[in-house]
Amino acid sequence: MKLIWNEYVHFIPDKERVFVGNTMNKDCMFITKECYQILNDAIKNELSEKQVIDSFQTEKERQYVKELFEILNQKGMIGDFNYSELFRDNLKITWAFTDQCNLRCRHCANSSGEMKRGKELEKEELFEIADKICALHPKSICLTGGEPLYNPYFWDIVDYIKSQFNGDFRLMTNGTLINEENASKLAEQFFSIDISLDGVDEESCAKIRGKHVFGKVILGIKLLKKHGAERIVVSMVDCRATHEHIQTFKDLCTNELGVKYMVRAFDRVGRGEENRSELENPPLTIFENDADEKKENKQASIKKNEKRYMPDVFGCKAALMEFYIDYRGQIFPCPVLDSKEFLLGNVLQEDLEQYIFERKYMESKGYGTLLQYLPWNLPGCSDCKNQLFCYTCIGDIKEKYESGIIKNCSEKICFEN
Ligand SMILES: C[S@@+](CC[C@H](N)C(=O)[O-])C[C@H]1O[C@@H](n2cnc3c(N)ncnc32)[C@H](O)[C@@H]1O
Ligand code: SF4
Ligand code: SF4
Repeated sequence: MKLIWNEYVHFIPDKERVFVGNTMNKDCMFITKECYQILNDAIKNELSEKQVIDSFQTEKERQYVKELFEILNQKGMIGDFNYSELFRDNLKITWAFTDQCNLRCRHCANSSGEMKRGKELEKEELFEIADKICALHPKSICLTGGEPLYNPYFWDIVDYIKSQFNGDFRLMTNGTLINEENASKLAEQFFSIDISLDGVDEESCAKIRGKHVFGKVILGIKLLKKHGAERIVVSMVDCRATHEHIQTFKDLCTNELGVKYMVRAFDRVGRGEENRSELENPPLTIFENDADEKKENKQASIKKNEKRYMPDVFGCKAALMEFYIDYRGQIFPCPVLDSKEFLLGNVLQEDLEQYIFERKYMESKGYGTLLQYLPWNLPGCSDCKNQLFCYTCIGDIKEKYESGIIKNCSEKICFEN
């Protein structure tokens, strides 16, 4: 079999060894510089694994290289992958089919509900988009908005998708419109329901989501549980009004509500940007949290007698295996990168199958912009040894780049020449 590095593997030389990070599955390992050189020579000379193994003189060396190949294969570091097939099997589509909403959350990144951003699509156009999404046979489809349950075509779209899609069907809702009439059907139709709460009581929730929302959401969660919803994930955005309640929020979800929880980072977009001064957490130095956390992980791993602490590798799947479609059918890499500069196309104008699986979207201007923000391409980070470990989100990279934090980064460790 042809020997080839996975396209999504990145290398960081470090003294006598090379760190190999797979951004497709976030797996990683160290190999010696000597092995790295041997592998690169073998790839250049189009040798097979067997030819490389056989080229060693002693049985001990052959065994060592054989084991190295086993590990590299196991971690998906090498291999002649069919990326289109791989992406096809793992495709996740998030569809914000409406921009309308019954709430006006202070942080809403979409500024939903204001009719500022233009007309909603007609029912036929929504069905056309649903058809095109289902024809991709994605692994998951997530309906979001705006508020999906506030839209008059919500159940039509749900039924239409369910009639042709067997994968993970997910819903993101503010939970305020769940009632005795719809709870059982919601529980039945969706594999997972994400509900935003953004607080631990009426007072804290009201600061973000408005008055009398908290009670309605808790009632909605209880109704879904009563009707046997398979998976409920309750979320809170980490901002000034909620930061001090994070632990109480986790306890509320786990102990009182019996649901999973998620704490989201606050994005300074839409109304989040307009209300930034009121919502944003007080500034921290960029790596203060990360450094503490990494130190703790390292100490924990040392305590467990693990041989070596392995960091978390950047592994964003936006515009690779995950796409976001907005209420006008516009395609973006993800909900955070939904601005014009990241626009990849429009579902209503594209042959979606060809566009996604034959990677036509990679020719768009928006994809070009996305590439610029990948850590290994970004001025400032591209020659830094920390580039695979600093970030999880491209939106975060963009923000730190634009604010000048990266230019003045004191954590930078340059590659040796
Ligand atoms: C835009 S909402 C749409 C679905 C539904 N209306 C809801 O509130 O859950 C999807 C998710 O994005 C989150 N969100 C909105 N604005 C945000 C922001 N500025 N930063 C981070 N998350 C945000 C919401 O809290 C919610 O969990
Ligand atoms: S976060 Fe959700 S509920 Fe709140 S205004 Fe935005 S779309 Fe509506
Ligand atoms: S320059 Fe700073 S932000 Fe960029 S990768 Fe290095 S340590 Fe991270």
